[in-house]
Amino acid sequence: MRTKRIAVIASGRGSNFQAIIDAIKEGTVPATCIALITDNPKAYAIERAEQAKIPVIVIDYAAFASKKEYEQALLAAMQRVNPALFVLAGYMRIVGKEIVDAFSGRMINIHPALLPSFTGLHAQRQAVQYGVKVSGCTVHFVDDSLDGGPVICQQCVPVLDGDDEDALAERILAHEHRCLPEAIRLFCEDRLKIDGRRVRIR
Ligand code: GAR
Repeated sequence: MRTKRIAVIASGRGSNFQAIIDAIKEGTVPATCIALITDNPKAYAIERAEQAKIPVIVIDYAAFASKKEYEQALLAAMQRVNPALFVLAGYMRIVGKEIVDAFSGRMINIHPALLPSFTGLHAQRQAVQYGVKVSGCTVHFVDDSLDGGPVICQQCVPVLDGDDEDALAERILAHEHRCLPEAIRLFCEDRLKIDGRRVRIR
């Protein structure tokens, strides 16, 4: 099968990015990762990209006078890279409407909760504080709502009595590392079809 060109956008540690790199290397995801874009010049994801010989583009959020200027620079970089798919893997900002519109159906995100519960930041903390008995992770297409685009796949984990935010985050993360490469695989195999709110898997 021909591989698809993908690019990853990440803000920090990049363990999901690493899971993607590893899955591509193992041959389970038919993709070539052509770039890492980050808003954070200190992101550990940069080292992971360098190790894997993946080009890095830093669009340093702090270097821009406004969110609007930052988003314009990010959009320009994304248009230059122009992959089949953008993967938001721990990107900690809300994506602006112009970018969402430019890459509609070509941008996915991993979120550490069972959407539509616990959108936004600190999803694992929200789950512990709410007292739910199960949580998990969701991979979804990005639209102009907050973590509200059509769902591609989800995995759930139990929330145990002694859990704090970190313990739950760690349990969920192990599932993220399987769920995200799986969603990318399905995309790259042309098996995902957005049908209203539903994502059909062919
Ligand atoms: C992951 O848990 C991811 O789901 C979450 O940030 C973490 C990044 O970890 N993303 C969000 O909360 C997005 N709102 P990583 O950098 O090790 O992949």
